[in-house]
Amino acid sequence: MNAPLTPSVGQPVSRVDGPLKVTGHARYAAEFDIPDMLHAALVLSTVPNGTIAAIDDEAARRAPGVHAVITHENAPRLPYRRMSQRPQVDAQSGDQLQVFQGPKIHFNGQPVAVVVAETLEQATHAASLVNVAYEEDEAFTRFELDRGQRPSSGNEKAGRPAETQMGDADAAFAAAPVKVDATYIQPREHHNAIEPHATIALWDGDFLTLYDKTQWVDNDRKEIAHVFGIHEDAIRVVSPFVGGAFGSALRTWPHVTVAALAAKVVRRPVRVELTRRELYTSVGFRPHTEQRVALGAERDGTLTAIIQEAWTQISDYEEYAEVTLDPARNTYACPNVRTRYRLVEMNTNSPCPMRGPGVATGLLAHETAMDELAVALGMDPIALRLKNYAEKDQHKDLPWSSKELRECYRIGAERFGWAGRNPEPRSMRADGQLVGYGMATAAYPAHRSKASAEATLFSNGTALIRTAASDMGPGTYTSMTQVAADALGLPLEAVRFELGDTDMPFAPVHGGSITLASVGTAVEAACRALLDDLSHVIGADLSGPFAGLSADDLEWRDGGAVRRGGGEMVPFEKLLRELKLDKIVGHGTSAPGQESKTYSSCAFGAVFAEVRVDPDLGTVRVHRVIGAYDIGRVVNPKTAHSQCIGGMVGAIGMALLEQAEWDERFGRVMNSNLAEYLVPVCADIRELDAFFVESEDRIFNPLGVKGVAELGICGVAPAIGNAVYHATGRRIRDFPILPDKLL
Ligand code: MOS
Repeated sequence: MNAPLTPSVGQPVSRVDGPLKVTGHARYAAEFDIPDMLHAALVLSTVPNGTIAAIDDEAARRAPGVHAVITHENAPRLPYRRMSQRPQVDAQSGDQLQVFQGPKIHFNGQPVAVVVAETLEQATHAASLVNVAYEEDEAFTRFELDRGQRPSSGNEKAGRPAETQMGDADAAFAAAPVKVDATYIQPREHHNAIEPHATIALWDGDFLTLYDKTQWVDNDRKEIAHVFGIHEDAIRVVSPFVGGAFGSALRTWPHVTVAALAAKVVRRPVRVELTRRELYTSVGFRPHTEQRVALGAERDGTLTAIIQEAWTQISDYEEYAEVTLDPARNTYACPNVRTRYRLVEMNTNSPCPMRGPGVATGLLAHETAMDELAVALGMDPIALRLKNYAEKDQHKDLPWSSKELRECYRIGAERFGWAGRNPEPRSMRADGQLVGYGMATAAYPAHRSKASAEATLFSNGTALIRTAASDMGPGTYTSMTQVAADALGLPLEAVRFELGDTDMPFAPVHGGSITLASVGTAVEAACRALLDDLSHVIGADLSGPFAGLSADDLEWRDGGAVRRGGGEMVPFEKLLRELKLDKIVGHGTSAPGQESKTYSSCAFGAVFAEVRVDPDLGTVRVHRVIGAYDIGRVVNPKTAHSQCIGGMVGAIGMALLEQAEWDERFGRVMNSNLAEYLVPVCADIRELDAFFVESEDRIFNPLGVKGVAELGICGVAPAIGNAVYHATGRRIRDFPILPDKLL
């Protein structure tokens, strides 16, 4: 393959799906217009633990427009077949919530009935008429550290071990001349994407079509096939657009089953669209996590001991665990590291990944503790990090496939103006406000999964690329179009990219920032296969423009073929016409190889924040955040930049605003709406910027990319917290940093 004269990869291309989105033509799950469709409304439990004693649904059944009221008393029994291997997006042990299969209540907000009616208003009204009586059991609604339990073997195997030990961290900590030992709290947080989760289910005989909000159509199909005990071939999942997800649409939640079940019962298509309030109990959330970090160092800043212990909440029916302690193990070089992980069962719905899952949480504590250590040492925070720079992944004992973090610190500090910082807390002021500068390291592991794609070249010179990937907002449509355009030597406008349908070649989960490294390489492989096939057709052709030439005599350039060594370029259109082909199709698959066992791959960054704190009111404004990132090759600097500053916005929420207010009496979130669950709004955002250092990781994958999305939220909240400390001299370890905590 030859690159075109003007490569598209590396260009700040605007989103190819942008016009569809801003004109309202992008179709989201709830927006598919299905004839004869009915609407569903859920009835949720109002107690956190117990058993349904009785359901009175008479009034609901008689309400106008109602077709069915489905409860555990009349719902069809579903087989809920176990998968031989759990998908990585599911909890690694326990059992998923089975809807309407029995009277047991695990949490406040569990679906206990669904009403199906002609209109959404009729369904909602009728749902309000369903009366449920409960036998309550004692509920665990308090987060109690002493109830922490070890992760089970499934999670140990999946890389969330109960304990890890390298050297003797406790002895080294005891002997360290300089130490920090503190506890950090990160509250329960909710994804709150713009688009609510929604599913439309449509049965045609035994064939089920689902229009769903999902980050993984292939797994959605697999999960529902297992729930209903039907073959995957009898299900199609369609999900062309996802209006933000941040991890909430990675796995298949109970409401998808509700939609399919209800549609089966009423023999009509059924739509379930969760309300904002229902999103707090029907899909997952970032779990409340408390961490102890103990760091020991020599007086010159050399780390001698890292101890990090985490307690995190889970439901009582499933064990969802995170890689919260990975940052403690491999962010810095240190011979003595001990970690301990405990899960606290509660009567709550199950948590799930939320942007930078585990890592953002672990870094929040770890990078705050590093700042505290820098203060204790009287050392510059960047100098402390450089002193303990991890030249390899010490936990896996593997070299990095690439690491330009030093350059991130250098460029980030320079662009931010770190040199102008007076290290003394409360020493800098502007406009009557306290000014604080803080920084932190960002890192998120780079992973890659098997993926496939199909490339079709038509005789009009345009191409179509298809793969069952997803685009929840990072710009998959755009980056894949760029990769394919370059691989085929075509202009961007000549390439169309489609995703989000199980009818397309399989793709891995759109999560963990793996899409570009996984699907991008498959798209490139599919284009290469297409050109190879075309070469062979040409080689076998006796009359066309290249009669008598073998594939080796040709090269591809700028949307056509040319005889090696020179000659006239024959464009695809002419070539296919002469060869009497309507189209030619190539299939490509890509997968990680040996390098995934011999190298550790990770994206890195250095994040710098300036805050302004009102000395009288304790209000914190994030004046600016500057990040310098090593994400490997940058396919699209515009969308990559958006990913980074989007992550910063999320992290401003994590640092200063976001927390689910949990009512221990009832085991439920009180502020389950967008008015009282605070997220940053435009007025909270000032200067945000991201820079990419020179980097390319061809060991990790042929495209040289490392992924960016999850990285964007990592390290930002601690950088802000560290800036607040610098501004005020107050160290807030209980996030978010609300004004009352500073006063
Ligand atoms: Mo990301 S939390 O895997 O959507």
